[in-house]
Amino acid sequence: MIGSGYVGLVSGACFADFGHDVICVDNDAAKVAALTRDEIPIYEPDLDRLVAANAGAGRLRFTTDLATPVAQADAVFIAVGTPSRRGDGHADLSHVYAAARQIAAALSGFTVVITKSTVPVGTSDEVERIIREARPDADFAVASNPEFLREGAAIRDFKHPDRIVVGTSDERAKAVMAEIYRPLYLNQAPIVYTSRRTAELIKYAANAFLATKITFINEIAELAEKVGADVQEIARGIGLDNRIGGKFLHAGPGFGGSCFPKDVRALIKTAQDHGAPLRIVEAVDLVNDARKRGMARKVAAALGGNLRGRTIAVLGLTFKPNTDDMREAPSIPLITALHDMGATVRAYDPAGMEQAKGVLPDVIYGDGPYQAAQGADALVIVTEWEQFRALDLDRLKTIMKQPVVIDLRNIYRPDDMAKHGFAYSSVGRWNGGN
Ligand SMILES: NC(=O)c1ccc[n+]([C@@H]2O[C@H](COP(=O)([O-])OP(=O)(O)OC[C@H]3O[C@@H](n4cnc5c(N)ncnc54)[C@H](O)[C@@H]3O)[C@@H](O)[C@H]2O)c1
Repeated sequence: MIGSGYVGLVSGACFADFGHDVICVDNDAAKVAALTRDEIPIYEPDLDRLVAANAGAGRLRFTTDLATPVAQADAVFIAVGTPSRRGDGHADLSHVYAAARQIAAALSGFTVVITKSTVPVGTSDEVERIIREARPDADFAVASNPEFLREGAAIRDFKHPDRIVVGTSDERAKAVMAEIYRPLYLNQAPIVYTSRRTAELIKYAANAFLATKITFINEIAELAEKVGADVQEIARGIGLDNRIGGKFLHAGPGFGGSCFPKDVRALIKTAQDHGAPLRIVEAVDLVNDARKRGMARKVAAALGGNLRGRTIAVLGLTFKPNTDDMREAPSIPLITALHDMGATVRAYDPAGMEQAKGVLPDVIYGDGPYQAAQGADALVIVTEWEQFRALDLDRLKTIMKQPVVIDLRNIYRPDDMAKHGFAYSSVGRWNGGN
């Protein structure tokens, strides 16, 4: 497993748990040293237990040395990062191609090289070309096996996937992939065998569709606020229709995270490059960006329009609960805009503060939700961590300067908040509208 981040580490640990011998490689020596000491460099529920159990059983090892394990392996997964390239939004494939060159030099015996990273259509062809050019003698096949796990529920998603997508036309590669995923197949997880290019595009189409669904309900939320309707009831009313489905219909501050924003932008770029622009996805990207920036105006509106000299408490910084991942989190443009408007920001997040300090250095970080709320003119709920769902509202009211709550995840009820004496605004709900 080349790359031991969110995807590589979870996949490696789960494959080891299936009984395979797994070696996780990473070129970040500090990460590998931590993993060797059984320390997990990311926050992911249950991952520590899974890693410790399989490392203890000798099925899971960590190293910075790529060559030795690749030479021994039947299958080599590339699970390195594919962030947005600066300037044009295309996926930055430098890590993937660097890994391919290193793998090429080390190959020995028939090996399946698998792109698990999310990569634009045609990347696996290029990985094959790079390896073939460096090692005309090598016996290998390149397959695409995109990953669909969600951070925060990564182990469950990996072990109980809705589907496994395998893109290859090579029969030997197909047999190796079937063997690797056999435990899941026995569990009835459908395996979709297809071409490499189709597999690559399935991943982007899936993420773009989900991002569209979120953005759609966010725009409906805006309209609901204006016309006196309730977006949560709308989501239920449409989501009960099986053709629509209830998931990904939670209105909020706009999507963020390590995948959706960069994948949406990369797909837009691929489509433009091929003369088949995806107008709907382009709109999703624009609407979502504007929405994230617009959340600060919602906070300002709750305080009469002017934030200069005000103190705002922010609960939740990560892009979703149960992760420490801050990549493209909606909290970043929100807090930046609050600062621009002259506010002081205090914040608390159960897992994301270490990562947040790198991107949001001017925030005053608290030890808990009440410490963050102390003396604040308004409290903004940005990420719906479990521990924010049942705050002691009476205590909150006594410690805040003013009882003003802006709930960007709709985790409280407008009538409850009113009963406790809060000026409360939320997303897409008339009662809480401002
Ligand atoms: N995070 C998710 O929820 C998720 C879900 C599905 C798919 N993906 C995709 O999976 C890929 C990996 O994402 P991630 O979140 O795990 O990224 P990450 O940044 O957490 O991990 C990538 C790791 O690869 C290592 N690396 C980079 N180049 C290397 C090299 N040449 N040799 C060895 N190690 C190298 C880095 O040090 C890092 O530890 C991306 O393409 C992403 O889009 C991510």
